[in-house]
Amino acid sequence: MEKIIIFDSTLRDGEQSPGASLNTKQKLEIAQQLSVLGVDVIEAGFPIASEGDFEAVSLVAKKVKGPVICGLARALKKDIDVCFDAVKHSKRRRIHTFLATSPIHMKYKLKMSQDQVFQAAIDAVRYAKNKTDDVEFSPEDAARSEIDFLCRIVEGVIDAGATAVNIPDTVGYSVPSEFGQIISKLYSRVPNIHRAVISVHCHNDLGLATSNSLSAIINGARQVECTINGLGERAGNASLEEIVMSLYVRKNFFNVYTDIKTSEISKTSKLVSSLTGMVIQPNKAIVGSNAFAHEAGIHQHGVLAKATTYEIMTPQSIGLKSSELVLGKHSGRHAFEKKVKELGFRLAQKEFEKAFNDFKALADKKKNIYDEDIEAIVENEISREKQIYELESIFITSGSAVRPLAKIKLRKDGKFFSAEASGDGPVDSAYKAIEEIIAQRFKLIDYSLKSVSIGKDAVGEAMVKVEYKGMVYLGRGTSTDVIEASVKAFLSAINRILRNIKGRD
Ligand code: KIV
Ligand code: ZN
Repeated sequence: MEKIIIFDSTLRDGEQSPGASLNTKQKLEIAQQLSVLGVDVIEAGFPIASEGDFEAVSLVAKKVKGPVICGLARALKKDIDVCFDAVKHSKRRRIHTFLATSPIHMKYKLKMSQDQVFQAAIDAVRYAKNKTDDVEFSPEDAARSEIDFLCRIVEGVIDAGATAVNIPDTVGYSVPSEFGQIISKLYSRVPNIHRAVISVHCHNDLGLATSNSLSAIINGARQVECTINGLGERAGNASLEEIVMSLYVRKNFFNVYTDIKTSEISKTSKLVSSLTGMVIQPNKAIVGSNAFAHEAGIHQHGVLAKATTYEIMTPQSIGLKSSELVLGKHSGRHAFEKKVKELGFRLAQKEFEKAFNDFKALADKKKNIYDEDIEAIVENEISREKQIYELESIFITSGSAVRPLAKIKLRKDGKFFSAEASGDGPVDSAYKAIEEIIAQRFKLIDYSLKSVSIGKDAVGEAMVKVEYKGMVYLGRGTSTDVIEASVKAFLSAINRILRNIKGRD
């Protein structure tokens, strides 16, 4: 398998996105994360563009170890000088110089003939080569350039010392088969082509940047220029995560590999999004919030049965913990049941059906269903449950100088049962007394108390989670007396455990 060099331009082309500017510190933070991600080349900026860009490229070159640090320069001596001054701090430095080669750019923007462009490109590469060994040349707007001229200039810059030649689809105009053919023609017509790495740099104006890059790889390109989250001029650049994961998921098809640590993709994407303020669309491939989320009942059922039914890569492969089953009006019983269990509830069949109907009714009215909504629905069912043991009376002694004592009287099937116990405070004492009556120990794993009304006579609500044989049971109790609320909550969880044991469900 051959390696594909990943050239990241998030800090250069990506930062050229309207509204995405980054300060020097933020650029360094991203560059450090790109190094952890395992990119081969970081294009850290366009040093002549501004003092800030110069500073950022210099800082990245000083601090970031591992990847080649590259700066962009027009095919002008002053640009190349400034670019070198910025990247020179890195042992692994590259100057990337460019000049447009398409008829439209040469005529209207550069006002130069083909021969003048040819000569300027050769001069720029030679000049850069005197400063550093690693020189990349880009014939800007290559995809709209005449193929004969493109072949001539690629051959010329390789002879002049370019170690990488990048073929940009600057305006995202090409389509995959056509762009692949450009690369294939270069390989068949440029005699010295094997002396340089052939790179591609695709923009996304027609949404084809990733496809065009992959088509170029099929036709021999061995470096791809891309950005995190597909940031970049206008509609952006080819997205790093899409290219890398395409090559990873379909490695048998492409037969190439990258050195990217894919499990760092999600983290890198989030970092770039938060520092640039460029929000990721939810349905963005690989890193969008919906990329591993399923709402439709059929899909949820499939994913629960076997993830690969609807997932072609694992969420873990990009660094996420798990995929998400989003509860909404399209969701089915399986996902609802899973969520209910995750939240620690165990419902009898009848209660489950009622809760599921309530959920469907709510989902029809409400766009986002949160865990709190599900809890409220299920708790509603729990409080309607018939209790096995009911609290008849409670007597507590507690204070700073006395040992807490609880006397509890419970009613079951018309009979009364009493016990008293001492523990670490009134609630613990009461719970011990209940366990004494039922003659069983229960593991309390969570206890919380809150006020659900205002004032001195506020109603307190206690919530407990009790673990029994690997299952978590939730209990809830309310009263103006917080000890009584706590006892009711514990009893309600225990009643649910006992109902479960007796198979009354
Ligand atoms: O899109 C483009 O052509 C560029 C070049 C500078 C490589 O960004
Ligand atoms: Zn570009």
